[in-house]
Amino acid sequence: MSGRRDLWGGRFASGPAEVLRRFNDSWSFDRALVAEDVQGSIAWAEELGRSGVLTAPETRKIVKGLREVKVAWDEGEGRDADAEDVHSYVEGELAKRIGPLAGKLHTGRSRNDQVATDLRLWLRNAFDAFHVAVLELAGALAERGAAEAATPMPGYTHLKRAEPVTFGHWSLAYAEMVLRDADRIRAARRRANECPLGSGALSGTPLGVDRERLAKSLGFARATANSLDGVSDRDAAAEYLFAASLHFAHLSRMAEDLIFFTSDEAGFAELPDALSTGSSRMPQKKNPDLLELVRGHAGRALGELTGFLALLKGLPLAYDKDLQLDKEPLFRTRAVLEAALPALTALVKGLRLKPERMAAAAADDRLLATELADALARRGVPFREAHEIVGRRFALAEETGKGLAELPPGEGVTKADLASVDLAKALARRGAVGGTSPKRVAQAAKRAAARIAGERKAADSAATKGKAAAPAAAGRRKS
Ligand code: ARG
Repeated sequence: MSGRRDLWGGRFASGPAEVLRRFNDSWSFDRALVAEDVQGSIAWAEELGRSGVLTAPETRKIVKGLREVKVAWDEGEGRDADAEDVHSYVEGELAKRIGPLAGKLHTGRSRNDQVATDLRLWLRNAFDAFHVAVLELAGALAERGAAEAATPMPGYTHLKRAEPVTFGHWSLAYAEMVLRDADRIRAARRRANECPLGSGALSGTPLGVDRERLAKSLGFARATANSLDGVSDRDAAAEYLFAASLHFAHLSRMAEDLIFFTSDEAGFAELPDALSTGSSRMPQKKNPDLLELVRGHAGRALGELTGFLALLKGLPLAYDKDLQLDKEPLFRTRAVLEAALPALTALVKGLRLKPERMAAAAADDRLLATELADALARRGVPFREAHEIVGRRFALAEETGKGLAELPPGEGVTKADLASVDLAKALARRGAVGGTSPKRVAQAAKRAAARIAGERKAADSAATKGKAAAPAAAGRRKS
């Protein structure tokens, strides 16, 4: 195999067989980490400089060379390179530019702490982008929560009409889930923000480097505490996949609700034309493909998480090559999130409600039977008894095709009781914290908006801290 230079040839009589290379190489996917690998390498070189392992001119040359490698990569070079992995690629490119001095960069470092660091840098950006996208969605939901605080619709349990709610209340239920996701993402990002570099292959680095200073130079909160754990810990990756799959589980439930709301049967809302698809055969069709794909991807995200945990669970300390397989699930999941979230956010914003149909459905007797029982209970009838009485009345109403309030008073129900069979009253009564009264929902929408603003601020300050070190570390990513 042509002029390729592996990083570990010395003790071998021959190079790796083609079949091994094909199986062992990770360059085809870990080249997504070129920016992070250069960033980490610059920080390492600078720390070697500060601690006297490299001279100042050596450090300058290496750092300059690494920056050139990154610029060339950004300009589109190297895509067809023949390399084992991203680390060999970057080092090889550096050697092309500065000669044998490039060989000093790896002093005291291993690809094990190097790749663990690359991955943390990548994850930090991925968490940040995820957080931003999730808050966009939360913002859209909170806005609809405010705008539709008083728009009645049927609420369901077991997918049977249960009690009326408002569309705003429904929106804010998802805003709650999504805000928990945002909080989870931020917490996971905080835990991820430790620097494994300087853990060496597994036992630490023999050089007198200052790992805390090194960590800070990359914007990390601190250095990881144990080198064995440092090179093999992939909790941050698992947490990313978990946060993504739980988020997808929430989105999938939302998608399922919206598929139902926009179905011909329910007809409570209509999908915006620009966000629905047609049929090649049936001219009348307007399909919720976007929502179905969200539902489908939720299943796949869960698969990525379980696959990843299965990969981790049997690994002896410290580094094992199985860990090379940590990257693709992350890359795939991020790509799907980046496509799905803006689309779903646009759909939430653009969904056209049909308030008359929703209100008519919400005023259905089935949804107001609880109101009548509550009215009886308010004047002292034990609720169990009230439940019986209303149950019998409901059966009679169904049998005779009349409404609950159309049947004359009697059988334990007074005229005043019947006045409570009213949609607006039913909604207004749910005024306690967390309830669906329009007033309460309007308040909840404001609180959700304030929490979203708080999340945004917290994220901004975390990201700013992370970026403080970026210029020195050639971290000028467009991301
Ligand atoms: N390509 C490897 C990975 O992604 C880099 C680390 C290789 N380390 C080793 N000891 N073979 O995990």
